[in-house]
Amino acid sequence: MKLIVVGATGLVGSEIIRQSLEIDDITEVIALARKFVQVEKNSPSSKLTNVIVRDYAEYPEDVKAKLSGADACIWTVAITPFRASNFPFAEVKRVCQDCTLAGFKAIYEAGPKIPFRFVYFSAEGTPRDPSHRPMFMGDYQVMRSHTENMVIGFPGQYPGTQICIAQPGVVINSTTWSRATLAFLLRGVNLFTRKIPNVDRSELSAAVLHQAVHGVERETLLNADLVRLGQLALKARGYL
Ligand SMILES: NC(=O)c1ccc[n+]([C@@H]2O[C@H](COP(=O)([O-])OP(=O)(O)OC[C@H]3O[C@@H](n4cnc5c(N)ncnc54)[C@H](OP(=O)(O)O)[C@@H]3O)[C@@H](O)[C@H]2O)c1
Repeated sequence: MKLIVVGATGLVGSEIIRQSLEIDDITEVIALARKFVQVEKNSPSSKLTNVIVRDYAEYPEDVKAKLSGADACIWTVAITPFRASNFPFAEVKRVCQDCTLAGFKAIYEAGPKIPFRFVYFSAEGTPRDPSHRPMFMGDYQVMRSHTENMVIGFPGQYPGTQICIAQPGVVINSTTWSRATLAFLLRGVNLFTRKIPNVDRSELSAAVLHQAVHGVERETLLNADLVRLGQLALKARGYL
């Protein structure tokens, strides 16, 4: 199968790329990003194609041609809440919402395989009802809610599309010292409770790859679903 990973150099996107290269069912991986993806030296990179865009809103014909015939896409592009204060809100909305629509349309116009699976990353706690405005980062959360609802509408507008909304909690990883410290603390707390929803980056990536390859279990996957599916997928691949 042919898989497109959008936002391929990001925290989650880069791990999805790494794992996708190890999965035999995936024969072609398109890493769509604004810069080249670096893969580890011993990684089986022959099925990887880097496709560079200047902006996630713009898909020239030569880019679209490389996106054609995809079975699935995993969309990770967003300005995350921690970075949102560095940008005007209009730009945050453009990247999170307008670019999702532009990218989806470009892939659909390029002619995907049918069924075409579109896995969209959101976050646990995003209200499904946009009239429900959370106290914390209300405008941002309502905008992400509208974006989720836009994606949920894709199958009705674009026949043959199946969608999955992944709603992880905190993505735990050890890519920096501060993140490694947080990961250490959360893994400790997780031995007793997972009251703070969190998922390991490798579990999360395995879970969404499983949905993209084998089909969508349900329209929205909460953090607990992602942990369960990710652990099952990693176990099946001999990692746990
Ligand atoms: N990290 C978490 O703890 C967490 C928790 C819950 C939900 N999520 C959700 O999971 C998804 C992926 O998260 P992540 O942590 O992997 O995010 P990330 O690394 O910060 O960003 C993901 C991608 O978005 C693109 N992007 C970021 N800022 C941009 C900007 N200003 N203009 C254009 N493109 C921009 C980048 O594309 P390039 O590759 O081209 O640079 C990047 O690869 C997001 O939807 C996020 O909200 C994350």
